[in-house]
Amino acid sequence: MKVRKAVIPIAGLGTRHFPASHAVKKELFPVVGADGIARALFHYHLLELDAAGIEEICIIVQPGEDDRVRDYLRGPDDRYLQRLEKYPALLREAGQMKSFSRRVTFAVQREQEGYGHAVFQSKNFAADEMVLLGLGDHLFRGHPVSPYRELADLAEISGGQSVSAVNRISAGELKGYGTIAGARRAGNPRLIDVSLIIEKPAVAVAQEKLRVNDLPAGTWLGWFGMHLLAPSIYDILGEMIRDNVRDHGEFQLTRAQEIQRQRHGYLALEMTGAERFDFGVPDDFVRSVSAFRRLP
Ligand code: UTP
Repeated sequence: MKVRKAVIPIAGLGTRHFPASHAVKKELFPVVGADGIARALFHYHLLELDAAGIEEICIIVQPGEDDRVRDYLRGPDDRYLQRLEKYPALLREAGQMKSFSRRVTFAVQREQEGYGHAVFQSKNFAADEMVLLGLGDHLFRGHPVSPYRELADLAEISGGQSVSAVNRISAGELKGYGTIAGARRAGNPRLIDVSLIIEKPAVAVAQEKLRVNDLPAGTWLGWFGMHLLAPSIYDILGEMIRDNVRDHGEFQLTRAQEIQRQRHGYLALEMTGAERFDFGVPDDFVRSVSAFRRLP
C-alpha cells in the first residue's frame, strides 16, 4: 500500500515562546536552510514530504490561521516578484511555493485541547488511508533517505499496523517522550513489535516495564516525532474525545496509540541515520537553527 498523505499540526499555543509567539506563531519563525534561504519553519516539512513522494498534505491550524499560511505559500504580488528578479534563487522559491499552495489543505482545531485532539481534526482528510504525521515544531533529516520516506515504505510490510519512528534516549530524556517496550524482529532488528507504550514515564517505571532487547543499559526507545498512523487511530481518538478521556487536561495521541496497540498491534522503527531538530522552546530553537543551517 502506497502512503500518499501527511498531516502536520501547527495549531498549538506556543506558550513557551512567549512573547515572540504573540507576534508570529512558532511554526512560522524563520529558519535558514543549508542553501542560505530563510523560510518559515513549517515550510521545510513541505519540502521534505515532497522529496519523500507524499502527494497530499494537511496542515492543522487554529481558526483563521489557514488564510495566513495560504497567503505565505501563494507568495508575493507581482510588484514584489519584480523585486525578486535580482535574486533568481528566491524567485524560483516563490514559484515552488505557489505549487505547494495548490496541494496543501487545512483542517481547523477550534480549541487547543492537545496533540491527539489536533490530529483528530484530520479524520476527513485521511479518509481511511494510512497517513504520516510529523510534529509541526520539529524538523527531520535523514542520510541518505528522508525519515518520512523510510516510515512510509513500511506500510508495505506493516500488515496495516501503525509504525512510530523511535530513537535512543537516556534516563534524563524520559520525561519528554512517549517510550516503548518491545521485541526486535529477527530478520530486521530496527523493526520492533511494540508491547507497551507509556507517555513520559518515570525512570523507575521505565526501568521496570520499558525494555527493548539489545539496548545498552540506561537507554530506552522514545518517540522521534513522526508516525505512520493506521486509520483506526481516528476511531480511538473519537472515543477518547466522546468519553472525555484526558491526561493533564489534554487529549493525548500517545494514549490513543497505546489503545491502538492493544487492539491491533503496533510497530516501531528505530531511526539510525536520521536527525531531529526541536524548535519548541527558545534555547532548543537557537541550537536547532544553527545546526540546521550547517546540514550538508
Ligand atoms: P507542543 O507540545 O509544543 O505544544 O506541540 P504548544 O501548544 O505548541 O506549545 P506550548 O506547550 O504552549 O509551549 C507540539 C506540536 O503540536 C501542535 C503544536 O503546534 C506543535 O507543532 N499542537 C499542540 C497542536 O496543533 N494543537 C494542540 O492542541 C497542541
